[in-house]
Amino acid sequence: MSVSDDDNWLRVLLSTRLDKLSSPTSISNLKYDLNAGVPDSGSLPLEPLRRAFDEVLSLNPKQALTYDTPNFGFEPLKEAVIEKIAETFRDIDSSWVSLVSGSAHGLDNIAATFVDEGDVILVGAPTYPGAIRTFTSRGAKLISVEQDEYGFSAAGLEASLTTGAASKLRIKAAYLIPNYDNPSSTLMPLERRKTLIEIARRHEILLIEDGAYAGIDLSGAPPLSLFQLAQGRGVIYCGTFSKTIATGLRSGYILAPPAVTKALKFMRFDNASSSLVQQAIHKFYTSDEYPEHLEKIQKVYRGRRDVVTHALDKYCKSFVNFSDPEGGFFHWLTLREGLSANEIREAAALQGVAISPGQGYYLTDHGEQDSRVRIVFSALDEESLVDAIRLLGKSFEIISK
Ligand SMILES: Cc1ncc(COP(=O)(O)O)c(C=O)c1O
Repeated sequence: MSVSDDDNWLRVLLSTRLDKLSSPTSISNLKYDLNAGVPDSGSLPLEPLRRAFDEVLSLNPKQALTYDTPNFGFEPLKEAVIEKIAETFRDIDSSWVSLVSGSAHGLDNIAATFVDEGDVILVGAPTYPGAIRTFTSRGAKLISVEQDEYGFSAAGLEASLTTGAASKLRIKAAYLIPNYDNPSSTLMPLERRKTLIEIARRHEILLIEDGAYAGIDLSGAPPLSLFQLAQGRGVIYCGTFSKTIATGLRSGYILAPPAVTKALKFMRFDNASSSLVQQAIHKFYTSDEYPEHLEKIQKVYRGRRDVVTHALDKYCKSFVNFSDPEGGFFHWLTLREGLSANEIREAAALQGVAISPGQGYYLTDHGEQDSRVRIVFSALDEESLVDAIRLLGKSFEIISK
C-alpha cells in the first residue's frame, strides 16, 4: 500500500495490518477486461429498480431514510429471503436473518464475530481473494485445503483438522463456495456437501458458506446449500443481491441461528445497512419481474459461457484445459505444462486483454498458482469475448515460441 509523499508523515501511523494484505483486484482499462468478475451492465434491471426506489420514497420515506439499527434489515426482505428456502427448512424465520452491505461485508461481520487473533480459518486452494484479505485483516491465520473437481476436499479438511488439533491450532472455521466457486467454478455435488458437514460437526468447527453465485445456474439447479442440508446447525450462509441484481446496491444477507444472528448484529459498527436500498430490492425481488429477470440473465450468461468455451476450443485448445462451468462467471484454465500464468498475463495485456493469473487465489507459494488463469465471461458481449479469446490464443502462440 502506498501513500503519496505529501502524506508521508501519516504513513507511520498506518496499521501494520495493511502490510499483511495483498492488493485487491481491480477493473482494468485494457480493451477487453476478462479479469473483473462483474455482472453484465446491459442486463441491469434499471426500470424496475427506478420504479421501486420511486415507490419507496413516495410511500415510506421516513422508514427508508432513517437508521435501521433495531432490526438490521427490512423485515419483509428478510421474510422474502427465507421464503425461498422455507420448503426445505421449515423452522427458519426472520430471527435467522441479518441484512448486510453485500456479502463482502457479511464475511467481514462473520470474521469480526468469530475470529480472535491467531485463530485459524481453512480456505480452499484456490479461493476468493476478498475472503483472504477479510479474514487476514481480522487477525485470522489462514491455512489452505486443496480443491479438487468437486470443490473443497473432504480428505483435505479431515487431514487439516487432525494435524491442526495435534499442533494445538485453534481452527474455528472453514470457508467455502460450493456453488460455482470463485475462481474454479466448481459445483460441489450433494455427497461432498454432506461429507463436509459431517466432518465439520465431528470436529466442532463452523462452516462459512459463501453463496455469491447462487442463482447464476447455467446447467440446471444445484444441490441444496450446506446451510439447508445442515438445517443451519454449524453452517452460516452469506448471500448477496450483487450478482443477480446489481453490485452497486451493496446489499446481501447472512443466515445463521438466532443466537449467532444476535452476536453478528452486536458486532456491527455501521449503524445498519441502507433501508432505502433494502426496501427497493424487496419490491423488485418479490415482483413477477424478478424471476423473468433471473431467466433473462441466465440466458445471457449461458450464451456467453458457450461462446467462450467454443472460442477456447478454437483458439487456445493446445495451450489450456478446462471444465465447462455449470454456473457463475468464470472459466478456470489449467495451462499446458511449461506455460506460465504470469507470462500469459503480460503477453495478453500487450494484446489489450486483461486476465487473472492464478497467484492471487492462493495463500502463498503453491505449485498450481503459475499454471492457472481465471477468465470472466459475464461482463463482455459475445463478439468481444470471441475477439478477446482470439487475442489470448495469439498471446499463447507468442509466449510458447
Ligand atoms: C465468492 C465471492 N464472495 C463474495 C463476493 C463479494 O460480493 P458482494 O460484496 O458484492 O456481495 C464476491 C465478489 O466478487 C465473490 O466472488
